[in-house]
Amino acid sequence: MEETRELGRRLGEVVEAGDVIALEGDLGTGKTELVKGIGEALGVLDGVHSPTFVLHHRYQGRLPIEHYDLYRLEGMAWVDTGLDEPAPDAVTVIEWPDRAGVLADWATIRIRMRSRGVSRRRLTLERGPDRVRMVFELAPRD
Ligand SMILES: Nc1ncnc2c1ncn2[C@@H]1O[C@H](COP(=O)(O)OP(=O)(O)O)[C@@H](O)[C@H]1O
Ligand SMILES: [Mg+2]
Repeated sequence: MEETRELGRRLGEVVEAGDVIALEGDLGTGKTELVKGIGEALGVLDGVHSPTFVLHHRYQGRLPIEHYDLYRLEGMAWVDTGLDEPAPDAVTVIEWPDRAGVLADWATIRIRMRSRGVSRRRLTLERGPDRVRMVFELAPRD
């Protein structure tokens, strides 16, 4: 948990305005935990929380964060988000991006999270048009 938060902080230090991070992975793999770390690095003061019931939150920070959680869109055949470009002034982070294709298509960074037992996680990150890939194995330190 703390390891995921820490990786989120490192990510938050390198993201730029206009970046779109697609966060894939089952419930409980740590997607929201990662967003909390990104928020800490960007100086979000009022606290990142799961926007599951409202689909979207915007947090103010050094860079604002547009946080989407599209879990509740399951089963909808087609979704019109009303958006035609990613927020140019913010970092956009999307949990369950595959549930609204247009958002997933904007991704500049794709992260797939998998559980490897109760407290271990494997995180695969792909970045840029060449999809440069990094794999992180997260495990408790002791
Ligand atoms: N290394 C880890 N990273 C993130 N969460 C972990 C880790 N190990 C255990 N957990 C547990 O997994 C859950 C992750 O929750 P959350 O971030 O809300 O997941 P998601 O948004 O993917 O549904 C938390 O309850 C946390 O205690
Ligand atoms: Mg979540």
